[in-house]
Amino acid sequence: MPLFLGLDTGTSGTKAIVMDETGATLATHTHEYALSTPQPLWAEQNPDTDWWAAAQETLRAVLRKASVSGDKIAGVGLTGQMHGSVFLDAQNNVLRPAMLWCDARTGAQCAEITEAIGGEAKLFDAIGQPVFTSFTAPKILWVRQHEPHVYEKIAKVLLPKDYIRLKLTGEFATEVSDASGTSLLDVRARAWSKPMLDALQIPTDFLPPVYESTIVTGAITAEAARLTGLSAGTPVVGGGGDQAAGAVGCGIVEGGRVSLSLGTSGVVFAHLDEPFFDPKAIQTFCHAVPGAYHLMGCVISAAGSFEWFKETFAPDQSYDAITAGAANIPAGCEGLLFLPYLAGERNPYFDPQARGAFVGATLRTANRDWFARAVLEGVSYGFKDLMTLLENSGAPVGETRLMGGGAKSDLWRQILADTVGHSLHRVNNDEGPAFGAALLAAVGTGTFDTVPEACAATIRTTDETKPGTNAPVYQKYHPVYRSLYPALKQGFADVAAATV
Ligand code: XUL
Repeated sequence: MPLFLGLDTGTSGTKAIVMDETGATLATHTHEYALSTPQPLWAEQNPDTDWWAAAQETLRAVLRKASVSGDKIAGVGLTGQMHGSVFLDAQNNVLRPAMLWCDARTGAQCAEITEAIGGEAKLFDAIGQPVFTSFTAPKILWVRQHEPHVYEKIAKVLLPKDYIRLKLTGEFATEVSDASGTSLLDVRARAWSKPMLDALQIPTDFLPPVYESTIVTGAITAEAARLTGLSAGTPVVGGGGDQAAGAVGCGIVEGGRVSLSLGTSGVVFAHLDEPFFDPKAIQTFCHAVPGAYHLMGCVISAAGSFEWFKETFAPDQSYDAITAGAANIPAGCEGLLFLPYLAGERNPYFDPQARGAFVGATLRTANRDWFARAVLEGVSYGFKDLMTLLENSGAPVGETRLMGGGAKSDLWRQILADTVGHSLHRVNNDEGPAFGAALLAAVGTGTFDTVPEACAATIRTTDETKPGTNAPVYQKYHPVYRSLYPALKQGFADVAAATV
């Protein structure tokens, strides 16, 4: 039976999975790394010492754990954190640390891009959405303005998983789902946008060729085979940005299906057969399903907020111990609210200067459990904002599936279902983007004809969390939560101004 390997260059670590054509997982392996924040608003990782080192170790380990040799792998699919920028010189050396999707330093460059293309309407014509600090194009402008000595050496700008592709196959390539998050792709045409590149004076040569996600873009080189245990010649397909690959991995491949991803970031994702653009509120990107699209809204710090809480206030406690404490606190935390804007916020505010906040503490909210629950609830209110954007867009919202590390908590799952007001279904794998990338490899190397066919053969729902008795409490508090950002917006800007 052919085996497939998915490799996810994530934000908290690199994960690999080996699976067979029934979707059974033979092994997984994860290698964690940190994120560096050398200045306020910055978020960086090193493509070589973080990602490529982790990829080599993870690939060797997953093959060992699965007890298979590299020649049993019929195809490799790549996925990873979206939007990050790897700057390479003409010899493919990394020129500076990669600026990540949660790096918020480029507010000024976003405004310049909008102006350079001729305003919001022209920007919308070119790429179908606003530009935000997360995305890649403003990072290129930032380097041009702040590090001209680096900019003059740039020969290529790659997304995180596409740097790993270069190391594995020697090929420059990307695919439409990840390229959608660069602000340089004409999403309607599924091709680089000449008007954007011209307006921003970014050389077309900086960018790799862009393919559909199931296309074979190269094969493992002899050198990469020696370093990873894979076999030279093994095909590597385009793969997908982590959100599109994750959506494939939980079966969001037909109209009406929606997923909530409770990972470091929090994403609401809806499959679209035909492109549908909402000028301001929510992004429309290409899907990893050839020819298809998706709507996506993102809260930047979702499970990332809970991780921040744990590391800051309870580093010695397990996540289970912290959620067990939070379960003892009444729903709604008697009005203690958390705004999860630790790295600014994308949807609905597009505000890189927004900050995290606890509001409503009293003499009674007097231990850590209150604040832990407020974090779980605050992130869930952020998801409610995203679902509201999706519902208002007019896109069909049918069966809603839940994935991501945070979905493993019974308490958080229930709070989320109560808050968004939808039943949340889980599926028979919780490997997320790596699983989806392996499925894309199975399609690209011919085991399945289409992505929906691959999903139908391997994915089924397992359980359902319905909105429960606390739902009215969250419906009462959500408008209060919504009122806090406008009230604090100027204060956030003042804090940011005082910090520089
Ligand atoms: C999606 C996004 C994040 C990253 C990291 O637009 O910014 O989800 O892909 O997971």
